[in-house]
Amino acid sequence: MHVRGLPARCSMNQATAVVIPRDLYHALHRARFVAALTGAGISAESGVATFRDAQTGLWARFDPRELATPGAFARNPKRVWDWYAWRRERVAAVEPNAGHRALVELERRVSEFLLITQNVDGLHQRAGSRKLVELHGNIARVKCSREGTIIEHWSAEEDEVPRCANCGAFLRPDVVWFEEMLPEHALVAAEDAARRCDVLLVIGTSAEVYPAAGLPMLTHRRGALVVEINPNETPLSSRVDYVLRGASGVVLPQLVSAPWTL
Ligand code: APR
Repeated sequence: MHVRGLPARCSMNQATAVVIPRDLYHALHRARFVAALTGAGISAESGVATFRDAQTGLWARFDPRELATPGAFARNPKRVWDWYAWRRERVAAVEPNAGHRALVELERRVSEFLLITQNVDGLHQRAGSRKLVELHGNIARVKCSREGTIIEHWSAEEDEVPRCANCGAFLRPDVVWFEEMLPEHALVAAEDAARRCDVLLVIGTSAEVYPAAGLPMLTHRRGALVVEINPNETPLSSRVDYVLRGASGVVLPQLVSAPWTL
């Protein structure tokens, strides 16, 4: 039996399984509504770079102010367009991993479930997740930078940024850049799930970017369980009920494969 306030820690190195406390299985077994909040870490084992991991993270190699803000796009739309085209190709070349697939199984297993993702890579959907909201958009979609309409088909000369056939404005990736608002429907659904769920799994996020990073505290304040799955410490680690210190591609299959009535 764990005492709230001192998160139960189970640490091993990244590739190996963690010891999952029996009462977490029981809590999952009793849960009517389970929600999961994911970040870039869940796609790391598929070969998709995270943002803030030292050396390998995108923001360790690229300046977000020059690539992921409305100002950057206004200053140099071609550079921003090409960078997202490059990321789109890399994401298209990889496959969902065991962590993504375990969440599909979890969605099937619990009566009410919602997957709240910060990821724009679409790997959850490719794994088969259906009960899902995208807080930061999706890199596979493109929209008019003036009207906001999603554009299904576009073409452009090699050295040009494609333009909206309706108004002539540049097209841009349908992702949320810094300084921009999240899609309201997704944020409302995410906050509702955080307030109503019995268990919130927080997977592969550094918990530094708001409003997503604020969701676990909505759950915690209601007395429901918050579980962090991350090989590294985050600002959230000392404020959750369980910390499973391992890679999501290892820990999540463990969590969903075991009978919860152990
Ligand atoms: N399994 C689980 N977690 C992992 C793994 C793994 N195999 N590998 C790395 N992680 C963890 C890291 O320890 C880190 O805490 O994933 C986290 C990734 O953090 P970030 O790179 O900051 O990504 P994220 O939290 O999703 O970023 C939030 O910031 O840049 C913006 O819009 C972008 O959606 C993104 C948001």
